[in-house]
This record gives sequence, C-alpha cells and structure tokens, in this order.
Amino acid sequence: MDSFARLASFLVETGYMISVVFFILGMKWMSHPASARKGNFTAAAGMLLAVLATLLLVVMNQEGNGNGFNFKGNFIWIGTGLLLGSVVGLRLSSRVKMTDMPQMVSLLNGFGGAAAMLVVVAEVLGRAFNQVDSGAVFYYVLLMVNLIAGAISFSGSIMAMGKLQGFVAGGSVRWPLQRLTNNGLLVLMFTGMLLFFQAGDAQLAVILSLCAAALLFGVLFVLPIGGADMPVVISLLNSITGLTSALTGLMFDNQTMVMGGVLVGASGLLLTILMCRAMNRSLGAVLLGSFQSGGTSTSDRTIDTTIRETSMHDAAVLMAYARKVAIIPGYGLAVAQAQHAVHELELQLEARGVEVNYGIHPVAGRMPGHMNVLLAESDVSYDKLLEMERINPEFPKVDVVLVIGANDVVNPAAERDPASPIYGMPILQVDRAAAVLVVKRSMNAGYAGIENELFYDPKTRMLFGDAKSVLQKLNSAIKEV
Ligand code: TAP
Repeated sequence: MDSFARLASFLVETGYMISVVFFILGMKWMSHPASARKGNFTAAAGMLLAVLATLLLVVMNQEGNGNGFNFKGNFIWIGTGLLLGSVVGLRLSSRVKMTDMPQMVSLLNGFGGAAAMLVVVAEVLGRAFNQVDSGAVFYYVLLMVNLIAGAISFSGSIMAMGKLQGFVAGGSVRWPLQRLTNNGLLVLMFTGMLLFFQAGDAQLAVILSLCAAALLFGVLFVLPIGGADMPVVISLLNSITGLTSALTGLMFDNQTMVMGGVLVGASGLLLTILMCRAMNRSLGAVLLGSFQSGGTSTSDRTIDTTIRETSMHDAAVLMAYARKVAIIPGYGLAVAQAQHAVHELELQLEARGVEVNYGIHPVAGRMPGHMNVLLAESDVSYDKLLEMERINPEFPKVDVVLVIGANDVVNPAAERDPASPIYGMPILQVDRAAAVLVVKRSMNAGYAGIENELFYDPKTRMLFGDAKSVLQKLNSAIKEV
C-alpha cells in the first residue's frame, strides 16, 4: 500500500467513525427542545463528513484498481447529484410551512427508499446474474429484501404525501378482500425470492417483478390508512427506510451506513410505538385502517348543543384575576402563527402574579413535537411545557384553561363515548378545570372530523376568531383590566 492509499484509508476510517459519533450525539440532543437545534446541526455535520469520506473512498478504490481515478466520468455524476439534491433540499426546506412538515418528511423519506431501490437495480444490471454463487446466497437475500423494503418505502411515502397534501383521497380507502390482496402480495414476494435462486436466465425478470410487486404493495398498504393515523404510518415508513440504509451498508460492507440505518430504523420504530400509545391504538389497528377519518360517533348519547360565547373583556377579567391558568395549544395556533401572541399573553398574566403553564399533548398539531418547536420559536421557557401525564392531575386546581386551536386532543368523547372513532386516545382533561375558554374560528371539527362536546359544556365559553387576532385583542383587553 503506498503512502497515499494509507493516508486516504486512515482519513476514510476516521471520518466514518467521527460521523457515527456525530449521529449518536445529534440524536441525543434532538430529544430535548433546548438542545434540538444543536442536535440537528451535529447530525447534519456527521452526514456531510460521511459523504466526504465516501468521496475519498471512491477515489481510493479507483486508484487501487490501477486505472487511476477518472475524475471526469465519476465526478460529473456525483457532483450533479450532490448539487441537484442540495439545491432542491435547501429550497424545499426553506419554503415549507411548519404545518406542511409531515408531507415534506414523507417525501424525503420516499427519496431514501427510492435510493435504496435504485442502488439494488444498478447492482443487478451490473452483474451477470444467472450464475448465483451458493456462497453469496446471503448477499442476494440482502439485495432482494433491500429492494422490496426500498420500493415499499418509496411508493408508500409518496402515497402518504399525496394523502396529506390532498392529491389523493385523505380518508381511509378500503376495498373488498383488502387483507387478502395485501397478504397475497406478501406471499407472492416471498415466493419470488425463493424462485430467484432457480430462475437461471430469468433472474432479472424475477427481480423486476419483485420491484413492481413491492411498489404496488406500498400503495395498497397506505391506502386504507387515514385521518389521525397518518403520522404513525409515516414514522413506520421512516423506520423501513432506515432498514434499507442498514441493508445497503451490509451489501457494501460500509459500517457507517449500517450504523446510520440502524439509528434511523430503531428511532422510527420507537416513535411509531410511542405515537400508537399516545392515541391508544395498536399498530395492527393502524395498519388495517380501522380509524375512519371523518367518521362520526354512532352512539345514541344526546348532548345539549347550546353554544356560550363570551366577550374579550369578560375573558380578560377571568384570566387576569385567576391564580392558575393552563394554555392548551393545538393545530390552529400553528396555522395562525400565534406563538408570539401567546407568549406575550403568558408574560402579561405572570406580571400580574398568575401562574401560567402550557399543556402539551403528544399528538397536538400535525407532527411529533409540533407544539414544542412552535413555542420554542417564541422563547417560551421549556419548564412551562407540561406533558399530558404531568398536567392532567393539575387541572382540578386550575382556574382557567385557554384552549387555542386545539380540538381532538381535548375531546372528552375519547374517554366517554365507546362509539367514538377516537375512543381510548388519552386526552388533556381540561373539563376538570373551573372554567374553559376556547379560541377557534367556527364550530368546525378537528382532524378526526368529529363533534366535541367540550364546546357545549356549561363551563366552556367560546371566543370565535383567528387565534392570532383573538390573542392580540385579548392582550390589549388585559392591559385595560
Ligand atoms: P385539531 O383536532 O386538528 O383541531 C384544530 C382546530 O383548530 C380546529 O378545530 C380548527 O377549528 C382550529 N383552527 C384552525 N385554524 C385556526 C386558526 N387560524 N385560528 C384558530 N383556530 C383554528 O388539532 P389538535 O387538537 O391539535 O389535534 C391534532 C390532531 O391531528 C389529532 O387528531 C392528531 O391525532 C392529528 N395528527 C397529529 C399529528 C401529530 S404527530 N402531532 C400528525 C397528524 C395528525 P376552526 O376551523 O373552527 O377554526
């Protein structure tokens, strides 16, 4: 080994090792809002380092082949890919609205799946496939599992993005023999994998059929899932993409890819499980699409539907003279971009000696951590953000709860109405407080598309209007109290 090869090999190995350390630190820091930004930059720096190390590896491998490095041929492809990806990524991420983040995550995740699928296809086209070496069986199994997982992740993520963006019907789409079709496809893919080893000249055809079946499966698997279950499926697809990275790492003997893939796969799976718990739904029920978006309760319980509105002045008096106030932010707060106005309200109330906390539901908004990110933007202190388990026992001691643009996460039907589609989902039990103020624009339903009897509760007062403008008026009204 000449001195260039030795140095390059040392740099590649060290670069990979540091990048893995960066990934792990990044993930650790991302788990708390105070350090999340640092975590994000650290993980991104780790990825940049891994890309640079891989570029050096490409140079090294070609030098090692004795042909000298073909800068033109390789770097035109690699450079174009890097440039295109960076420009598109930067533009997308700088323009995306916070409320559209799940679609963006889904789209980028789909690209990850597509990359794995294309790597396998490139491998297949670059090899004489009709003489499978029995020693390489493990390699071919890896290759086919990677192809299937990548294709499912790609088509499933694009389908999920289409649903969230409204390109495809957003609710649960079902058809007769749905389970049979999906299970049939799974059996077909498994049989295809076995057939591959006996297929002789037809191996390429088997691989392409596997790819087509997996793409179809991805679409059919996401179609029945609707409504509030979409984030769970996105997170699951994310973990499948992590698996494909790990498998690609195994195929090319690249430990960084294995580590990165395992981290993404495991964290995606954990997030999936946590979200299922937060909605009190099993993963099986989510995947079978038993949550009906837009469904209504079939219960025969009748509720008094009298709406009680209040004035800005009365709401201001109620809050200004309270001892304890709990603010419940929801999706509407994000839509209205009312995070600064709500922080101003908090500061005003605290200046008057009122104790203010925020109650954060794990699936409030449209993505995990949505409310934390939003409130961090306006410098709300993290100690004031109380998770559901912490704030629920506090509600009987709270004088006023201010619900801002939240609906499903405070819907008592989740506890009281077994016929409700959200029955069993843990909620913020705001109706245990002395008084409830609700800010929203109309009596429209939330994400799950169902009525909320909290709005008709005798202790609830409605403040209709856009969250930001209501909060601004409330802030002015409190100044005058
Ligand atoms: P939602 O149940 O979606 O309710 C939001 C409410 O905000 C609506 O009732 C809407 O009523 C109101 N609103 C909308 N724009 C507003 C504005 N500009 N000003 C004031 N109010 C506005 O929200 P939530 O309680 O946060 O619950 C989240 C739901 O999304 C859950 O069902 C959850 O499962 C689902 N979900 C969660 C995630 C994650 S991981 N967080 C991801 C996807 C889906 P008006 O139209 O009358 O104003």
